[in-house]
Amino acid sequence: MDKFIIHGGNALSGKIQVSGAKNATLALMPAALLASGTSKLLNTPRLNDVHTMIKLISHLGAECSFEGDELTINASNISQFEAPYEAVKKMRASIYVLGPLLARFGEAKVSLPGGCAWGPRPVDLHIQSMKRLGAQIEIENGYIIAKAKRLKGATISFDRSTVGATGNLLMAAVLAKGTTIINNASMEPEITNLIEFLNMMGAKIFGINSSILEIEGVDELTGAQIDTIPDRIEAATLLTAAVMTKGIITLDNCSSIHLLSPIAKLEDAGAVLSIQKNSVSIDASQIDLQSVDVATSPFPGFPTDMQAQWISLMSVTPGVSTITDTIYLDRFSHVPELNRLGANITIKENSAIVRGVAKLNGTKVMSTDLRASASLVLAGLVATGLTEVLRVYHLDRGYEGLEKKLNSLGANIERVTGSEY
Ligand code: UD1
Repeated sequence: MDKFIIHGGNALSGKIQVSGAKNATLALMPAALLASGTSKLLNTPRLNDVHTMIKLISHLGAECSFEGDELTINASNISQFEAPYEAVKKMRASIYVLGPLLARFGEAKVSLPGGCAWGPRPVDLHIQSMKRLGAQIEIENGYIIAKAKRLKGATISFDRSTVGATGNLLMAAVLAKGTTIINNASMEPEITNLIEFLNMMGAKIFGINSSILEIEGVDELTGAQIDTIPDRIEAATLLTAAVMTKGIITLDNCSSIHLLSPIAKLEDAGAVLSIQKNSVSIDASQIDLQSVDVATSPFPGFPTDMQAQWISLMSVTPGVSTITDTIYLDRFSHVPELNRLGANITIKENSAIVRGVAKLNGTKVMSTDLRASASLVLAGLVATGLTEVLRVYHLDRGYEGLEKKLNSLGANIERVTGSEY
């Protein structure tokens, strides 16, 4: 297993390109299964999760080729309809094949994902949505077994905003007979990217960028080509790293409109930002850091995928701040590890109360999920001495060469491959 050895203390400086968005790609790839023919996904990040999805859709019969950042998917010969436990256990987004398989082939068998590192993450809303479209669903031996002759349009009102169930429902409803209305649809940019792609494939989805979507089902779709949006979580993580190290950096290939909430919080913390449509610069060289409370919420609110990194920033910011996660109430596996680095954080229900400390001290740390691991890397950038972040395969799931990007901005991170400890 790989680990990072981080020599902390360097201020970041320079310019870097943001990669394509993981969460957009993981929805676009299964969407390509909806059409017989070839789709091209541009600006696709080379991430372990993307390779896991390639493996899954190849198992279903898709032909995938990945050159540079262009991922080509030919879904003409799909012959399997099952997402096995091994795929779903490794990556929950595997459940995205449910909607497309059911809509195009009338059958799908997808393993239930089970729990995850930060508690239960149910898929009941995915299942209910498919039932509302007329699918027959049985749960047998840990699998969702779904069947339908042809799905029928329906009105679905989500009790809570859900990215995954909105995406799955969209991918099913585009080939259903009649009209589907989704109320309280997720408005995350990755879902907007998916809607754009589906419409390019010939779908009729109206209401883009709103929480009420109307889908007029069509009989078939064709392959299409789309630019994957930039990864807003990678961008916000890099901006936070710049603030923690009192650096000056510019991010290119970056959609500032997707970052309004993290940018506002970084400004509240004292950073100076200059914002263009496709690039964001940050100057924290003279920063007088201020503590800032944050509560996560669905887009356009502050993303839960930035909660851990924000706690890391606040742990070295004078004063007391409260960071509340309203989406994943237990998502705090990074807290004990940050405390091992010398942070002073306590958890109360779904909030972290962070008392800023003057310095963190490097040691060995490890976390069990992607964004938690990112928060430990950020902490390592400012800790005195050496910080070892173990099991960075979590990071490799969702950040494209994070250590290479940070090193190109002046950080000192060494990847040690195959280390037992
Ligand atoms: C997606 C993102 C993930 C992000 C999350 C919230 C992908 C691949 N992953 O995950 O990075 O952290 O959005 O922004 O895009 N819920 C239910 N029942 C369901 C589905 C969800 O109760 O059937 C709950 C979840 O437990 C959670 C909330 O709804 O509390 C939002 O989850 P959801 O938006 O669906 O997250 P994911 O799509 O799994």
